[in-house]
Amino acid sequence: MKRETWKTKTGLIFAAAGNAIGLGNLLRFPSKVALYGGGAFMIPYFVALFLLGIPLMLIEWVVGRYAGAKGHGSMTGIIGSFFNHSHGSRVLGSIGVSIPILIVSYYIYIESWTLGFAFMSLLGQMPEPVVSDDPKIAMEPFVSFYKDYTEPSPIAVVFLIITLIINWVILQRGIVKGIELTAKYGLPLLVAMGIFLGIVSLSMNGWKGLEGLLFIYKPDFSRLTDPQVWLEASGQIFFTLSLGMGAIATYASYVKKQEDVVKAGIYTAGLNEFVEVVIGASIAIPAAFAVFGAMSVPELAKEGTFRLGFMTMPAILMSLPIGSLLSTVWFFLLFIAALTSSLALIQPLVALLEDEMRWSHAKAVNVSMIIVTFGAFLSAFVPGFIDDVDFWAGTFMLVFFGLLEIIVFVWVFGVHNFHRELNTNSFIKIPKGLVYFYAVVSPLFLVLLLYFWGIVQLPKVLSQTDPNVLISRAFVIFIILLIAFFSVESRRRYLSGPHM
Ligand code: PHE
Repeated sequence: MKRETWKTKTGLIFAAAGNAIGLGNLLRFPSKVALYGGGAFMIPYFVALFLLGIPLMLIEWVVGRYAGAKGHGSMTGIIGSFFNHSHGSRVLGSIGVSIPILIVSYYIYIESWTLGFAFMSLLGQMPEPVVSDDPKIAMEPFVSFYKDYTEPSPIAVVFLIITLIINWVILQRGIVKGIELTAKYGLPLLVAMGIFLGIVSLSMNGWKGLEGLLFIYKPDFSRLTDPQVWLEASGQIFFTLSLGMGAIATYASYVKKQEDVVKAGIYTAGLNEFVEVVIGASIAIPAAFAVFGAMSVPELAKEGTFRLGFMTMPAILMSLPIGSLLSTVWFFLLFIAALTSSLALIQPLVALLEDEMRWSHAKAVNVSMIIVTFGAFLSAFVPGFIDDVDFWAGTFMLVFFGLLEIIVFVWVFGVHNFHRELNTNSFIKIPKGLVYFYAVVSPLFLVLLLYFWGIVQLPKVLSQTDPNVLISRAFVIFIILLIAFFSVESRRRYLSGPHM
C-alpha cells in the first residue's frame, strides 16, 4: 500500500496552515488576552512561541517526514519506530493520537455552532439587536439566543450532524482530493474574510477599535511573576500551533522525501501567527472596545471563551448596516477555520488505523468518525464536558506530550541525528549549537510549567464535585485505552506484515 503525498508545495503549506489556524486563533486567543490583561499576556506568549512553539514545530515536521518515509503517520508508529516498536513505546505514542481525538470531540461541536450561526445569520434568524453601550443590555438577546441554541436545540443537533458529515466526506476523499483541496480554497477565503472583518472592527466608531489593539500591544510587566499567566500563554502556543499532539507530524508524514521541512515549519508557524496576532487581535477585542469601551472587555472575557465570539460579536455586528451579512461572514470565517483544523485532529487516528492496523482508507475513516461522533454527542448533551475535556487534553496532556517529543526525538534519537535530518534539503542551515540550546532550555521550561500546573491548577480541578465530570473523565480514560489497544493490537500486524 503506497501512502499518499501532498500534490503541490502550496497545497502542503495551505493544508498545514489550515491545520494550525482555527478557533484557537479567532476565539481562544482574544478571550485569553482579554482575561489575562492584554499586554501582560503577550510577553509570556512570545517567550513561549520562541522557546516552545518554534522548536516543537520543527521537531514535528522533521520526525513526520522521517517516519512517513518508513510508512508511519501516527505517533504510535512514529514513536514506536525509535524503539523497535516495543509495546511500551507504541502505547506511549498512542497518547499522541488520543489527545487530538479528545480535543476534536468538543471542537467539532463548537465548529457546528459556527455553521449553525452562519446559516441563521444568513437567513435572518438572529435576534433583533438592541442598541446600547451597556454590554449587558445590548447582549441580552444574544445571550439567550446562544443559551437556547446550545441547550442543545434540535437545530443545533441537525448542524452537528451536518458538520460531522462534511468532515467525514472530506476525510474519505483522502489527503490530496480531500484535505489539500479544502485548504486550497478555504485558506485564501479565510484570510480575505479575516482581513475584511479586522478592518470593519478597527474602524468602528471612528477607528476607536484601535484602542483595542493598543490594549493588546502595550507591554505590561506587572504580571510576569504570576505562574497562571505563563501557563495560559504557553498552553495557547501549543493549542494554536497544533503542537504536542502529533497533528503536525501526521501532516508532515505525507510530504515527499525531498521536501524542505524547515521551510514548511516556518511557513506554518508564520501564517498561524499572522492570523492570530494580526487578524485574531484585530476583530473581537477591538470591536468590543469600540462599542462597549475599555472596561467591558476583561469583564466579558471572564464569562467564558464563548462570550466574545458567540454573543458580543453578533450583538455588535447585527447593529451595523448589513448586519446579517457581517454576522454571516464572521461565523463562516470561524467555520472554515475550524473545519480545516478538525480534519487535522481526526487524521492522526485515520493514519493509525490505516498505517498500523492496515485497514482500508474507507474503513479507517468510518471507524474514526464513529468514535468522533460519540464524543461529539457527549459534548452536546453532558454539561461541563467541554471544559473538563479541554482541561485534560487541551491543556495538560499536550504539555506532557510535548516534553516527551523532545526527549524522544532529540535526546533518544540523538542531537547529531536530529540535526542531520533537520538540515536535509533545508534552505537555511541551522547550527548544531542552536539544537543543543533548545534541547536543554525547552524541556526545562516545560518541566517548570508542569510543576506550576501541578500546584496551581490541579488542586482546583480535582476539587470539583460535579457528578458530570465522572462522565467526561470516564470518556477521557476510555479513549486513551481504546487507542492504546489499537496500538498494541496493530504491533502484531506490523511485525507480520510486509515491511516498507
Ligand atoms: N490549532 C488549532 C486551533 O488553533 C487547533 C488544533 C489543535 C488543530 C491540534 C489541530 C490539531 O484552533
